[in-house]
Amino acid sequence: MEVIICSNETKVGEIGAAKVAKLVAEIGSHVVLGIATGSSPLATYHCLANLVASGELDLSMASAFALDEYVGLPVDHPESYHATIARTITEPFRLNPARVHVPDGDPSRLDTAGQRYEAQISAAGGVDVQILGVGANGHIGFNEPTSSLTSRTRVKTLTPRTITDNARFFGSTTAVPRHCITQGIGTIMEARAIVLVATGELKAAAVSAIIEGALTSMWPGSVLQLHPRATCIIDEAAAGSLKLTNYYKQVYANLPDWQRLAVDTN
Ligand code: F6R
Repeated sequence: MEVIICSNETKVGEIGAAKVAKLVAEIGSHVVLGIATGSSPLATYHCLANLVASGELDLSMASAFALDEYVGLPVDHPESYHATIARTITEPFRLNPARVHVPDGDPSRLDTAGQRYEAQISAAGGVDVQILGVGANGHIGFNEPTSSLTSRTRVKTLTPRTITDNARFFGSTTAVPRHCITQGIGTIMEARAIVLVATGELKAAAVSAIIEGALTSMWPGSVLQLHPRATCIIDEAAAGSLKLTNYYKQVYANLPDWQRLAVDTN
């Protein structure tokens, strides 16, 4: 796994955007993006939106697939991932809303929602570049600890830890939905390239487990060790429990020209 350690969250955003833009340039204008919600990728999204605004990045022909959605939250609820994606991605990236997809969390259609979403991803040709955050418990998407490492899009129950962590978006833990529909770990692993961003010391244990720990469903993100093209972009605080910090920095400082990003980590 490629590990890039940045001095702070702003730099994670700049490097994250530069990495995603480089991958998009390789694929071309019809790129299929995989998009995470939550706080972690916001700095990256902000920098990507700036590249779109300046004309350096054109996503008008791109498609996008969200990782997950809460079950039972109306799509027009401000914290639904339908609404969040429209606000933080579709508009600032100037994506065509018809090509932006979010899993269907309507309780009346849940029995087919997973299969329908998988079919939409397949019909688009699969995800080219997947942007991920990671939960403090190591989840990717909402694949909580002990999720099958080959799982597909389906309904999951949020852990108490995730409910507590996400209460900040809802004002209280009781307002956080208990269930979600999420791309499976097997689904996420089919993305051609994966860029995970994480910041802050609350993520340090998860970051260390997924980069340097054993492959285990107890830390779902550790599955990225099996991905041929996964990059973790983290700040110093999130890197706080890593053992090989100096090595990762040395690798980044000595990248061959064709792999270099035009942004510094400091
Ligand atoms: C949400 C998602 C989750 C978040 C994770 C971290 O679409 O995929 O895995 O990335 O819960 O959330 P933040 O970034 O808010 O700490």
